[in-house]
Amino acid sequence: MLLLLFLLLLPSVPPADGCDANDRNALWKFKYSFSNPNPFPSWELVFDCCDWYGVECNETTKVVTGLTITSDYPGSIPDVIADLKHLEILRFHKNPFLIGEIPPAIGKLSKLRFLDISWTNISGHIPAFLANLKNLQFLELPFNNLSGSIPPSLGTLPKLIALDLSRNQLTGPIPESFGHFPEKETPIALDLSHNKLSGEIPASLANIDFFRVDISRNNFSGDASMFFGTWKRTDMIVISRNNFAFNFSLVSFMESLVTLDISHNKIYGSIPSQITEAILLQELNVSYNRLCGEIPSGWKLKYRPEGFDNTSFLHNPSCLCGMPLGPCKP
Ligand SMILES: *[C@@H]1O[C@H](CO)[C@@H](O)[C@H](O)[C@H]1NC(C)=O
Ligand SMILES: *[C@@H]1O[C@H](CO)[C@@H](O)[C@H](O)[C@H]1NC(C)=O
Ligand SMILES: *[C@@H]1O[C@H](CO)[C@@H](O)[C@H](O)[C@H]1NC(C)=O
Ligand SMILES: *[C@@H]1O[C@H](CO)[C@@H](O)[C@H](O)[C@H]1NC(C)=O
Ligand SMILES: *[C@@H]1O[C@H](CO)[C@@H](O)[C@H](O)[C@H]1NC(C)=O
Ligand SMILES: *[C@@H]1O[C@H](CO)[C@@H](O)[C@H](O)[C@H]1NC(C)=O
Ligand SMILES: *[C@@H]1O[C@H](CO)[C@@H](O)[C@H](O)[C@H]1NC(C)=O
Repeated sequence: MLLLLFLLLLPSVPPADGCDANDRNALWKFKYSFSNPNPFPSWELVFDCCDWYGVECNETTKVVTGLTITSDYPGSIPDVIADLKHLEILRFHKNPFLIGEIPPAIGKLSKLRFLDISWTNISGHIPAFLANLKNLQFLELPFNNLSGSIPPSLGTLPKLIALDLSRNQLTGPIPESFGHFPEKETPIALDLSHNKLSGEIPASLANIDFFRVDISRNNFSGDASMFFGTWKRTDMIVISRNNFAFNFSLVSFMESLVTLDISHNKIYGSIPSQITEAILLQELNVSYNRLCGEIPSGWKLKYRPEGFDNTSFLHNPSCLCGMPLGPCKP
Protein backbone atom coordinates (compact mmCIF):
# COMPACT_ATOMS: atom_id res chain seq x y z
CA MET A 1 0.00 0.00 0.00
CA LEU A 2 2.79 2.37 0.96
CA LEU A 3 4.66 1.39 -2.19
CA LEU A 4 1.56 2.13 -4.27
CA LEU A 5 1.23 5.53 -2.60
CA PHE A 6 4.90 6.16 -3.29
CA LEU A 7 4.45 5.28 -6.96
CA LEU A 8 1.41 7.51 -7.21
CA LEU A 9 3.27 10.42 -5.68
CA LEU A 10 6.34 10.01 -7.85
CA PRO A 11 4.97 11.77 -10.93
CA SER A 12 4.81 15.10 -9.09
CA VAL A 13 8.50 14.77 -8.14
CA PRO A 14 10.49 15.19 -11.34
CA PRO A 15 13.73 13.19 -11.43
CA ALA A 16 16.78 15.27 -10.44
CA ASP A 17 18.30 15.42 -13.91
CA GLY A 18 14.94 15.19 -15.64
CA CYS A 19 13.96 16.77 -18.88
CA ASP A 20 12.75 20.31 -19.28
CA ALA A 21 9.40 20.70 -17.47
CA ASN A 22 7.68 22.60 -20.29
CA ASP A 23 8.73 19.99 -22.79
CA ARG A 24 7.55 17.16 -20.52
CA ASN A 25 4.13 18.82 -20.24
CA ALA A 26 3.94 19.22 -23.99
CA LEU A 27 4.85 15.56 -24.56
CA TRP A 28 2.25 14.49 -22.00
CA LYS A 29 -0.46 16.48 -23.78
CA PHE A 30 0.82 15.10 -27.09
CA LYS A 31 0.41 11.55 -25.80
CA TYR A 32 -3.17 12.15 -24.62
CA SER A 33 -4.19 13.95 -27.82
CA PHE A 34 -4.49 10.49 -29.36
CA SER A 35 -7.58 8.48 -28.60
CA ASN A 36 -5.41 5.50 -27.78
CA PRO A 37 -2.21 6.45 -25.97
CA ASN A 38 -1.15 2.82 -25.50
CA PRO A 39 1.44 2.95 -28.27
CA PHE A 40 3.53 5.11 -25.94
CA PRO A 41 4.24 2.55 -23.17
CA SER A 42 7.47 4.11 -21.89
CA TRP A 43 5.91 7.55 -21.78
CA GLU A 44 5.26 7.52 -18.03
CA LEU A 45 6.02 10.31 -15.60
CA VAL A 46 8.08 7.97 -13.39
CA PHE A 47 10.71 8.03 -16.12
CA ASP A 48 12.81 10.97 -17.21
CA CYS A 49 11.06 12.10 -20.40
CA CYS A 50 14.44 12.24 -22.12
CA ASP A 51 14.35 8.43 -21.82
CA TRP A 52 10.87 8.07 -23.35
CA TYR A 53 10.83 6.02 -26.51
CA GLY A 54 11.42 8.21 -29.56
CA VAL A 55 12.43 11.28 -27.53
CA GLU A 56 15.87 12.88 -27.78
CA CYS A 57 17.17 15.65 -25.55
CA ASN A 58 20.11 17.99 -25.50
CA GLU A 59 22.36 16.39 -22.89
CA THR A 60 23.28 19.69 -21.26
CA THR A 61 20.06 21.67 -21.32
CA LYS A 62 17.67 18.66 -21.25
CA VAL A 63 15.31 20.29 -23.72
CA VAL A 64 13.61 17.96 -26.20
CA THR A 65 15.38 18.24 -29.56
CA GLY A 66 14.12 15.14 -31.34
CA LEU A 67 10.84 13.25 -31.61
CA THR A 68 10.32 10.11 -33.69
CA ILE A 69 6.85 8.57 -33.74
CA THR A 70 6.53 5.26 -35.52
CA SER A 71 3.50 3.69 -33.85
CA ASP A 72 0.24 2.69 -35.52
CA TYR A 73 -2.16 4.90 -33.60
CA PRO A 74 -5.17 6.65 -35.13
CA GLY A 75 -5.27 10.44 -35.01
CA SER A 76 -3.79 13.56 -36.49
CA ILE A 77 -0.76 15.70 -35.65
CA PRO A 78 -1.80 17.73 -32.56
CA ASP A 79 -1.26 21.49 -32.26
CA VAL A 80 0.54 20.97 -28.96
CA ILE A 81 3.57 19.97 -31.07
CA ALA A 82 4.24 23.73 -31.31
CA ASP A 83 5.08 23.75 -27.57
CA LEU A 84 8.16 21.60 -28.22
CA LYS A 85 10.02 24.79 -29.10
CA HIS A 86 13.48 23.26 -29.27
CA LEU A 87 12.68 20.47 -31.71
CA GLU A 88 15.31 20.04 -34.40
CA ILE A 89 14.23 16.61 -35.61
CA LEU A 90 10.60 15.53 -36.07
CA ARG A 91 9.56 12.25 -37.65
CA PHE A 92 6.18 10.60 -38.15
CA HIS A 93 6.91 7.38 -40.00
CA LYS A 94 4.87 4.35 -41.09
CA ASN A 95 1.48 5.10 -39.63
CA PRO A 96 -1.40 4.47 -42.05
CA PHE A 97 -3.86 5.72 -39.44
CA LEU A 98 -2.31 9.18 -39.17
CA ILE A 99 -4.80 11.40 -41.00
CA GLY A 100 -5.59 15.08 -41.43
CA GLU A 101 -3.33 17.81 -42.73
CA ILE A 102 0.09 19.14 -41.80
CA PRO A 103 -0.97 21.61 -39.06
CA PRO A 104 0.22 25.26 -38.89
CA ALA A 105 1.71 24.33 -35.49
CA ILE A 106 4.61 22.70 -37.38
CA GLY A 107 5.39 26.07 -38.98
CA LYS A 108 6.21 27.40 -35.50
CA LEU A 109 9.04 24.94 -34.85
CA SER A 110 11.70 27.41 -35.93
CA LYS A 111 14.64 25.20 -34.97
CA LEU A 112 13.60 22.22 -37.13
CA ARG A 113 16.42 20.89 -39.28
CA PHE A 114 14.82 17.58 -40.22
CA LEU A 115 11.10 17.06 -40.90
CA ASP A 116 10.01 13.60 -42.01
CA ILE A 117 6.36 12.64 -42.42
CA SER A 118 6.37 9.43 -44.46
CA TRP A 119 4.21 6.36 -45.09
CA THR A 120 1.18 7.98 -43.44
CA ASN A 121 -2.29 8.93 -44.63
CA ILE A 122 -1.67 12.67 -44.19
CA SER A 123 -3.56 14.56 -46.87
CA GLY A 124 -4.27 18.12 -48.02
CA HIS A 125 -1.76 20.50 -49.57
CA ILE A 126 1.90 20.92 -48.78
CA PRO A 127 1.60 24.09 -46.71
CA ALA A 128 3.50 27.20 -47.82
CA PHE A 129 4.25 27.97 -44.15
CA LEU A 130 6.93 25.27 -44.17
CA ALA A 131 9.04 27.97 -45.82
CA ASN A 132 9.11 29.71 -42.40
CA LEU A 133 11.35 26.94 -41.10
CA LYS A 134 14.58 28.67 -42.01
CA ASN A 135 16.80 25.98 -40.50
CA LEU A 136 15.24 23.14 -42.46
CA GLN A 137 17.82 21.00 -44.23
CA PHE A 138 15.78 17.84 -44.86
CA LEU A 139 12.11 17.97 -45.87
CA GLU A 140 10.93 14.41 -46.39
CA LEU A 141 7.23 13.86 -47.14
CA PRO A 142 7.16 10.69 -49.28
CA PHE A 143 4.44 8.01 -49.33
CA ASN A 144 1.53 10.11 -48.09
CA ASN A 145 -1.69 11.32 -49.62
CA LEU A 146 -0.69 14.95 -50.24
CA SER A 147 -2.32 16.74 -53.16
CA GLY A 148 -2.29 20.17 -54.81
CA SER A 149 0.76 21.92 -56.18
CA ILE A 150 4.25 22.40 -54.79
CA PRO A 151 4.48 25.75 -52.97
CA PRO A 152 7.07 27.98 -54.69
CA SER A 153 8.13 29.30 -51.27
CA LEU A 154 10.00 26.03 -50.60
CA GLY A 155 12.58 27.27 -53.09
CA THR A 156 13.54 30.02 -50.62
CA LEU A 157 14.54 27.69 -47.77
CA PRO A 158 18.08 28.89 -47.11
CA LYS A 159 19.58 25.61 -45.90
CA LEU A 160 17.56 22.99 -47.77
CA ILE A 161 19.68 20.10 -49.11
CA ALA A 162 17.11 17.32 -49.45
CA LEU A 163 13.52 17.54 -50.65
CA ASP A 164 11.54 14.32 -51.02
CA LEU A 165 7.88 14.72 -52.01
CA SER A 166 7.67 11.42 -53.87
CA ARG A 167 4.69 9.04 -53.89
CA ASN A 168 1.90 11.54 -53.31
CA GLN A 169 -0.86 12.94 -55.52
CA LEU A 170 0.83 16.24 -56.34
CA THR A 171 -0.18 18.14 -59.47
CA GLY A 172 1.10 21.19 -61.33
CA PRO A 173 4.64 22.16 -62.30
CA ILE A 174 8.00 22.40 -60.56
CA PRO A 175 8.15 26.00 -59.28
CA GLU A 176 10.56 28.33 -61.07
CA SER A 177 11.97 29.19 -57.63
CA PHE A 178 13.59 25.74 -57.50
CA GLY A 179 16.24 27.17 -59.83
CA HIS A 180 17.31 29.54 -57.07
CA PHE A 181 17.77 27.39 -53.96
CA PRO A 182 19.99 29.55 -51.72
CA GLU A 183 22.13 26.61 -50.53
CA LYS A 184 25.06 26.64 -52.93
CA GLU A 185 27.74 24.66 -51.08
CA THR A 186 26.04 21.27 -50.79
CA PRO A 187 24.42 19.53 -53.78
CA ILE A 188 20.66 19.17 -53.37
CA ALA A 189 18.78 15.86 -53.47
CA LEU A 190 15.38 16.21 -55.16
CA ASP A 191 12.82 13.41 -55.35
CA LEU A 192 9.42 14.24 -56.85
CA SER A 193 8.83 10.81 -58.38
CA HIS A 194 5.46 9.00 -58.50
CA ASN A 195 3.17 12.03 -58.51
CA LYS A 196 0.95 13.66 -61.14
CA LEU A 197 3.19 16.63 -61.82
CA SER A 198 3.22 18.15 -65.30
CA GLY A 199 4.43 21.03 -67.43
CA GLU A 200 7.94 21.92 -68.51
CA ILE A 201 10.95 21.95 -66.21
CA PRO A 202 12.00 25.57 -65.51
CA ALA A 203 15.22 26.39 -67.37
CA SER A 204 16.51 27.99 -64.15
CA LEU A 205 17.15 24.49 -62.73
CA ALA A 206 20.27 24.45 -64.91
CA ASN A 207 21.87 26.55 -62.13
CA ILE A 208 21.46 23.89 -59.48
CA ASP A 209 24.09 21.32 -58.60
CA PHE A 210 21.76 18.46 -57.78
CA PHE A 211 23.18 15.52 -55.89
CA ARG A 212 20.30 13.36 -57.04
CA VAL A 213 17.26 14.03 -59.21
CA ASP A 214 14.35 11.62 -59.43
CA ILE A 215 11.29 13.04 -61.17
CA SER A 216 10.20 9.75 -62.74
CA ARG A 217 6.58 8.67 -63.16
CA ASN A 218 4.99 12.07 -63.62
CA ASN A 219 3.73 13.78 -66.75
CA PHE A 220 6.49 16.32 -67.37
CA SER A 221 7.11 17.40 -70.95
CA GLY A 222 9.64 19.32 -73.03
CA ASP A 223 13.29 19.63 -72.10
CA ALA A 224 15.19 17.95 -69.25
CA SER A 225 18.70 18.70 -70.51
CA MET A 226 19.18 21.31 -67.74
CA PHE A 227 19.88 18.51 -65.27
CA PHE A 228 23.06 17.61 -67.17
CA GLY A 229 26.39 19.44 -67.38
CA THR A 230 30.00 18.47 -66.76
CA TRP A 231 30.40 20.94 -63.86
CA LYS A 232 27.78 19.23 -61.68
CA ARG A 233 28.34 16.60 -58.98
CA THR A 234 25.14 14.64 -59.65
CA ASP A 235 25.24 10.89 -59.08
CA MET A 236 21.70 10.04 -60.14
CA ILE A 237 19.39 11.37 -62.86
CA VAL A 238 16.10 9.48 -63.17
CA ILE A 239 13.52 11.11 -65.44
CA SER A 240 11.85 7.95 -66.74
CA ARG A 241 8.14 7.60 -67.55
CA ASN A 242 7.30 11.18 -68.46
CA ASN A 243 6.66 12.95 -71.74
CA PHE A 244 10.07 14.51 -72.24
CA ALA A 245 11.10 15.33 -75.81
CA PHE A 246 14.51 16.90 -76.32
CA ASN A 247 17.68 16.36 -78.30
CA PHE A 248 19.90 14.01 -76.29
CA SER A 249 22.84 14.75 -78.62
CA LEU A 250 23.23 18.09 -76.86
CA VAL A 251 23.72 16.92 -73.26
CA SER A 252 27.04 16.38 -71.52
CA PHE A 253 27.57 14.05 -68.63
CA MET A 254 29.14 14.74 -65.24
CA GLU A 255 31.96 12.47 -64.10
CA SER A 256 30.09 11.63 -60.90
CA LEU A 257 27.13 9.99 -62.64
CA VAL A 258 26.31 6.50 -61.33
CA THR A 259 22.65 6.07 -62.36
CA LEU A 260 20.99 7.41 -65.50
CA ASP A 261 17.43 6.40 -66.43
CA ILE A 262 15.66 8.35 -69.17
CA SER A 263 13.47 5.43 -70.30
CA HIS A 264 9.86 5.79 -71.48
CA ASN A 265 9.96 9.30 -72.91
CA LYS A 266 10.12 10.77 -76.42
CA ILE A 267 13.75 11.76 -76.30
CA TYR A 268 15.44 12.01 -79.71
CA GLY A 269 18.89 12.59 -81.16
CA SER A 270 21.78 10.24 -80.45
CA ILE A 271 23.74 9.11 -77.39
CA PRO A 272 26.75 11.47 -77.16
CA SER A 273 30.09 9.63 -77.13
CA GLN A 274 31.12 11.80 -74.18
CA ILE A 275 28.97 9.43 -72.07
CA THR A 276 31.93 7.02 -72.09
CA GLU A 277 33.75 9.47 -69.82
CA ALA A 278 31.18 8.87 -67.06
CA ILE A 279 33.41 6.11 -65.71
CA LEU A 280 31.39 5.60 -62.51
CA LEU A 281 28.21 4.75 -64.40
CA GLN A 282 26.62 1.54 -63.17
CA GLU A 283 22.99 1.77 -64.23
CA LEU A 284 21.94 3.03 -67.63
CA ASN A 285 18.51 2.94 -69.24
CA VAL A 286 17.64 4.86 -72.38
CA SER A 287 15.04 2.35 -73.60
CA TYR A 288 11.60 3.30 -74.98
CA ASN A 289 12.61 6.61 -76.58
CA ARG A 290 13.25 7.90 -80.11
CA LEU A 291 17.01 7.78 -80.08
CA CYS A 292 18.95 7.20 -83.26
CA GLY A 293 22.48 6.53 -84.43
CA GLU A 294 25.28 4.37 -83.17
CA ILE A 295 25.64 3.49 -79.48
CA PRO A 296 29.05 4.82 -78.37
CA SER A 297 31.81 2.27 -77.89
CA GLY A 298 34.96 2.38 -75.79
CA TRP A 299 33.26 2.48 -72.41
CA LYS A 300 35.74 2.90 -69.52
CA LEU A 301 33.39 1.71 -66.82
CA LYS A 302 35.20 1.37 -63.51
CA TYR A 303 32.61 -0.74 -61.69
CA ARG A 304 30.94 -2.44 -64.64
CA PRO A 305 33.61 -3.94 -66.86
CA GLU A 306 31.03 -6.16 -68.57
CA GLY A 307 29.30 -3.05 -69.97
CA PHE A 308 25.55 -2.73 -70.54
CA ASP A 309 23.35 -5.36 -72.18
CA ASN A 310 20.64 -4.65 -74.72
CA THR A 311 17.94 -4.07 -72.06
CA SER A 312 19.52 -0.63 -71.50
CA PHE A 313 18.82 0.39 -75.11
CA LEU A 314 15.74 -1.51 -76.36
CA HIS A 315 12.69 0.03 -78.06
CA ASN A 316 14.19 3.02 -79.78
CA PRO A 317 12.36 2.19 -82.99
CA SER A 318 13.87 4.88 -85.17
CA CYS A 319 17.40 3.62 -85.64
CA LEU A 320 19.50 3.12 -82.49
CA CYS A 321 22.13 0.56 -83.44
CA GLY A 322 25.53 -0.91 -82.69
CA MET A 323 26.67 -3.09 -79.78
CA PRO A 324 24.87 -4.47 -77.80
CA LEU A 325 22.06 -4.03 -80.36
CA GLY A 326 22.33 -5.14 -83.94
CA PRO A 327 24.92 -3.63 -86.30
CA CYS A 328 24.20 -0.26 -87.93
CA LYS A 329 23.05 -0.42 -91.54
CA PRO A 330 25.66 1.00 -93.86
C1 LIG B 1 22.96 21.70 -26.26
O1 LIG B 1 22.62 23.03 -25.93
C2 LIG B 1 23.72 23.88 -25.74
C3 LIG B 1 23.18 25.21 -25.21
O2 LIG B 1 22.15 25.70 -26.05
C4 LIG B 1 24.45 24.02 -27.05
O3 LIG B 1 25.57 24.87 -26.91
C5 LIG B 1 24.90 22.65 -27.51
O4 LIG B 1 25.51 22.75 -28.79
C6 LIG B 1 23.73 21.70 -27.57
N1 LIG B 1 24.22 20.35 -27.85
C7 LIG B 1 23.92 19.69 -28.95
C8 LIG B 1 24.48 18.33 -29.10
O5 LIG B 1 23.19 20.18 -29.82
C1 LIG C 1 -6.89 7.42 -45.40
O1 LIG C 1 -7.78 8.52 -45.29
C2 LIG C 1 -8.94 8.41 -46.09
C3 LIG C 1 -9.77 9.65 -45.90
O2 LIG C 1 -8.98 10.78 -46.02
C4 LIG C 1 -9.73 7.15 -45.69
O3 LIG C 1 -10.80 7.01 -46.58
C5 LIG C 1 -8.82 5.95 -45.78
O4 LIG C 1 -9.48 4.82 -45.29
C6 LIG C 1 -7.57 6.16 -44.95
N1 LIG C 1 -6.67 5.03 -45.09
C7 LIG C 1 -6.21 4.35 -44.03
C8 LIG C 1 -5.24 3.24 -44.32
O5 LIG C 1 -6.52 4.63 -42.91
C1 LIG D 1 -6.26 9.77 -50.09
O1 LIG D 1 -7.21 10.76 -49.76
C2 LIG D 1 -8.41 10.65 -50.49
C3 LIG D 1 -9.28 11.81 -50.10
O2 LIG D 1 -8.58 13.00 -50.21
C4 LIG D 1 -9.08 9.33 -50.17
O3 LIG D 1 -10.23 9.19 -50.96
C5 LIG D 1 -8.12 8.18 -50.47
O4 LIG D 1 -8.66 6.97 -50.02
C6 LIG D 1 -6.79 8.38 -49.77
N1 LIG D 1 -5.83 7.39 -50.21
C7 LIG D 1 -5.25 6.49 -49.41
C8 LIG D 1 -4.23 5.60 -50.03
O5 LIG D 1 -5.49 6.45 -48.24
C1 LIG E 1 0.15 14.54 -69.88
O1 LIG E 1 0.44 15.80 -70.48
C2 LIG E 1 0.03 15.89 -71.80
C3 LIG E 1 0.47 17.25 -72.33
O2 LIG E 1 1.87 17.34 -72.28
C4 LIG E 1 -1.48 15.74 -71.90
O3 LIG E 1 -1.90 15.77 -73.25
C5 LIG E 1 -1.88 14.40 -71.27
O4 LIG E 1 -3.28 14.31 -71.23
C6 LIG E 1 -1.33 14.29 -69.86
N1 LIG E 1 -1.59 12.95 -69.38
C7 LIG E 1 -2.10 12.71 -68.18
C8 LIG E 1 -2.27 11.29 -67.80
O5 LIG E 1 -2.39 13.61 -67.41
C1 LIG F 1 20.29 17.16 -82.38
O1 LIG F 1 21.48 17.90 -82.19
C2 LIG F 1 22.50 17.51 -83.09
C3 LIG F 1 23.77 18.23 -82.66
O2 LIG F 1 23.58 19.62 -82.61
C4 LIG F 1 22.09 17.84 -84.50
O3 LIG F 1 23.12 17.43 -85.41
C5 LIG F 1 20.82 17.11 -84.83
O4 LIG F 1 20.34 17.48 -86.09
C6 LIG F 1 19.76 17.37 -83.77
N1 LIG F 1 18.67 16.47 -84.02
C7 LIG F 1 17.41 16.86 -84.19
C8 LIG F 1 16.41 15.81 -84.50
O5 LIG F 1 17.09 18.03 -84.08
C1 LIG G 1 19.03 -9.08 -76.26
O1 LIG G 1 20.12 -9.92 -75.91
C2 LIG G 1 19.74 -11.28 -75.68
C3 LIG G 1 21.00 -12.06 -75.29
O2 LIG G 1 21.79 -11.35 -74.43
C4 LIG G 1 19.12 -11.88 -76.92
O3 LIG G 1 18.68 -13.19 -76.63
C5 LIG G 1 17.95 -11.03 -77.36
O4 LIG G 1 17.45 -11.50 -78.58
C6 LIG G 1 18.38 -9.59 -77.52
N1 LIG G 1 17.18 -8.79 -77.85
C7 LIG G 1 17.16 -7.90 -78.81
C8 LIG G 1 15.85 -7.24 -79.10
O5 LIG G 1 18.15 -7.61 -79.46
C1 LIG H 1 15.03 -0.34 -68.77
O1 LIG H 1 13.67 0.01 -68.68
C2 LIG H 1 12.82 -0.92 -69.31
C3 LIG H 1 11.42 -0.36 -69.26
O2 LIG H 1 11.04 0.01 -67.97
C4 LIG H 1 12.95 -2.27 -68.63
O3 LIG H 1 12.13 -3.21 -69.27
C5 LIG H 1 14.39 -2.72 -68.67
O4 LIG H 1 14.55 -3.91 -67.96
C6 LIG H 1 15.28 -1.65 -68.09
N1 LIG H 1 16.68 -2.05 -68.28
C7 LIG H 1 17.61 -1.90 -67.34
C8 LIG H 1 18.98 -2.32 -67.67
O5 LIG H 1 17.34 -1.45 -66.23
